Amino acid sequence: MIMKNHTVLVTGAPTAPVKNSNSPVHKHGEISMSKLFTTVQVGPIVLSHRVVMAPLTRMRSEQPGDVPGNIMVEYYAQRASEGGLIISEATPVALTGRGYLGAPGIYNDAHIAGWKKITDAVHAKGGRMFMQLWHVGRTSHVDLTDGPAPVSASVAPYEGVAFTHNGWVPVSPNRALDIREIPGIVEEFRKGAERARAAGFDGVELHAANGYLIDQFLQDGTNKRIDSYGGSPENRARLLMDIVHAVASVWGYNRVAVRIAPSGKWNGMSDSNPTATFNHVAQVLAPLGLAYLHIVEPRVIGSQEEADGLPPAAAINLRQFFKGTIMAAGGFDPKGAEEIVAKGDADLVAFGRHFIANPDLPKRIRLGLPLNPYDRSSFYGGNAHGYTDYPFYEENKSQHAA
Ligand SMILES: Cc1cc2nc3c(=O)[nH]c(=O)nc-3n(C[C@H](O)[C@H](O)[C@H](O)COP(=O)(O)O)c2cc1C
Repeated sequence: MIMKNHTVLVTGAPTAPVKNSNSPVHKHGEISMSKLFTTVQVGPIVLSHRVVMAPLTRMRSEQPGDVPGNIMVEYYAQRASEGGLIISEATPVALTGRGYLGAPGIYNDAHIAGWKKITDAVHAKGGRMFMQLWHVGRTSHVDLTDGPAPVSASVAPYEGVAFTHNGWVPVSPNRALDIREIPGIVEEFRKGAERARAAGFDGVELHAANGYLIDQFLQDGTNKRIDSYGGSPENRARLLMDIVHAVASVWGYNRVAVRIAPSGKWNGMSDSNPTATFNHVAQVLAPLGLAYLHIVEPRVIGSQEEADGLPPAAAINLRQFFKGTIMAAGGFDPKGAEEIVAKGDADLVAFGRHFIANPDLPKRIRLGLPLNPYDRSSFYGGNAHGYTDYPFYEENKSQHAA
């Protein structure tokens, strides 16, 4: 989940379709991009293209209960493609890991049936789907945790907001997890992984990016611990590794993925030496045979470009240490995506905002069709508007012809 000060994010919706000006020359109606539309191995799965739907919190689950409902089935089914991969929106593994009312859960068995309808719909279109498992840590509120103070690596005051039944409110003061509580957190992730399996997913991705609990342990701006979970990069990566091993006991390592945001500043994050921290993370994950390592480029802070035109850097750097499958994300357009996979610095590219606005994004990229613009004001919460009503390309054409 990505959320900046919501008043800043809500900028009006653009109205005209944007030209996919980055599309290279077409050959016989098909885009000349080739590598993006070749097969790629993700664990035991062979995908037929490399255009992935990024995890995108949309806050449209049924309330109360955080159960995925029919509108979510429609949304994900619209975005499924033959041989394509979808990563679910971040999904809390515990009531105490929630930060945004409306986000769907996987923290009790009642969530399984709702998600199963979604994975069935995605599979029916020949697609594959991983669930992103989430614990927000300090970015929560006692109304969401049902009482307990939000937890983090250390007491780390934070001036962000959480979305509760009272709307956007300042997060509640957090407390440091006692070392004896850590196995309980790991078990919540393991149970979430087990439920994801029961719900028909093809694998799971751990949300270790964007300033949530695992990232709060990884980066030393929030991790001041003096026990075996704090201090060196090795110690700060210990919670991540404990969770990786626990969820792999359910799935096998080749259906487990990890999302990290090296140098990520989102949610008030910082690290005194992000290169050392994240190089270490890539190095310890490398031998495990994970499905993929998902790397968010620091040129995007959450869902906002930090600076236009910056080239990707994080995936290129970590490729030195991680020889398995790499998925890059953050600020990619079709041309940039083709470039990074053609160079071999990444194997897959996840698209966020473009996938929100273009249910048929892989097809549009393959054929060099124009992309619909996205509407920030309907990113988080609400109804079908800005969710399931973005037009497919054919609908666009007929609208224009009318
Ligand atoms: C509405 C919205 C919700 C998001 N929710 C999540 C999320 O649940 N988990 C996550 O890891 N990243 C989340 N992100 C970040 C995206 O996955 C992606 O990294 C970001 O949008 C940059 O990619 P883009 O430039 O292709 O949009 C979200 C972004 C947006 C715009």
